[in-house]
Amino acid sequence: MVKVITYGTYDLLHYGHIRLLERAKALGDYLIVGVTADDFDKTRGKINVQQSLMERVEAVKATGIADEVIIEEYEGQKIDDIRRYGVDIFTVGSDWVGKFDYLNEYCQVIYLPRTEGVSSTELRQSRRAVSLGLVGDADFLNKIEKESRFVNGIRVTGICTRSLDRLSDAIRELGFATEDYEELLERVDAVYIRSQPEEHYAQVKLALERGRHVLCEAPMALSQAQCVELQELAAENKLVLMDAIKTAYATAYARMLLLLKGGRIGKIVSVDAVCTSLRDPAGQDPAEAGRHWDNVYEWGTTALLPVLQLLGGDYCSKSCAVRWFDEGKEHDSFVKADFVYPKAVASVKAGTGVKSEGELVISGTKGYVYVPAPWWKTDYFEIRYEDPNDNKRYFYQLDGEGIRYELVAFAKAVETGKQSFAIDAATSAAICRFMEDFRAGKDLVEI
Ligand code: CTP
Repeated sequence: MVKVITYGTYDLLHYGHIRLLERAKALGDYLIVGVTADDFDKTRGKINVQQSLMERVEAVKATGIADEVIIEEYEGQKIDDIRRYGVDIFTVGSDWVGKFDYLNEYCQVIYLPRTEGVSSTELRQSRRAVSLGLVGDADFLNKIEKESRFVNGIRVTGICTRSLDRLSDAIRELGFATEDYEELLERVDAVYIRSQPEEHYAQVKLALERGRHVLCEAPMALSQAQCVELQELAAENKLVLMDAIKTAYATAYARMLLLLKGGRIGKIVSVDAVCTSLRDPAGQDPAEAGRHWDNVYEWGTTALLPVLQLLGGDYCSKSCAVRWFDEGKEHDSFVKADFVYPKAVASVKAGTGVKSEGELVISGTKGYVYVPAPWWKTDYFEIRYEDPNDNKRYFYQLDGEGIRYELVAFAKAVETGKQSFAIDAATSAAICRFMEDFRAGKDLVEI
């Protein structure tokens, strides 16, 4: 019996795939099809696959052509599979010519002519992309525009800013720039907001009232009540309202949360998160206002994320210390907050004027998680136990600091009409409540 194997992503299964599978099958008696898992595909830069792994597997099975469908989970798996299944022929489309010649050592390699005129990429692109308007003055918008190019389903089409001259050429060439927010809202399906946090609430509200989806850098409002009001407005108008905290969308971070929720370190007793980056004091120059956020927003939000996601927002008490940047006490350079929960504690340190080790440690009754600096760009973490032999290390490739995954999640949410799970409404509201207390000086001492 001649065994044939072929691999692919098979996103939005199309005629080209079916013809390839038919011809692959005709090369022998038994056809094995390897469907590439989401994560592995991400490492090849394809993060815009529209269908889930199971949907793609089901679609391949439904063709009835494959005798066996397997999942390709890791790089290098092809050699393993060829040996394990006793494969005689490896085949793929001619777009891969040369790429798999190394497999000739293990079996015959055949490249089949690719069907002209159809591809998953084109099918994805033919779906109407969400047109996204950028809002704000920060250089960070350059990154968002750049990362959006890796994501199918989203196209940055305009900007509302007071600082166009400072932004990238690509942004200046978008074709539509305005200082009038209403005008931007007229032209786009959705907005990404990175203005000053004081402006968020009004901007988010107006966008939702105008029927636009919103991706907003957290905090989306400066009080819990305002945040809840925005969430309700989004739900009423059936719009997506999502917090943009890139860490939350990093695969490693999301997997770590799942492992912890599954009890891998026992009961969680302490969460300690530190985020710092020293910034030139010139960054606080009023003339530069708009470019940078105050530390409590910039780093406080990210540092709070694992605390609130793992322990929730119902802490019994909180105490917070602040070091101010300026005499007027308007800008902070360092914040340390301690939380006491009924059965746990947490601490966060955030600084733009104080430097520390940017690590995340989560302590439990059976072990702990260690995420080395800079933990907010999570691609690696360890679960450590009393007996080091039990330790486990996890690595997940992180391209683009998490921003492109955040955009993928946003595009998916808009397309499916379902809010993303990455940051839930309660976490979002708890972040806003923290900012509300901070601004009111509640539980706050100065150092
Ligand atoms: N294929 C083909 N003819 C096409 C498209 C794909 O023969 N028009 C083959 C590929 O060469 C590969 C298999 O089908 O052997 C699975 O391809 P996959 O990468 O999943 O699909 P594409 O449409 O090529 O996807 P993309 O546009 O994302 O590259």
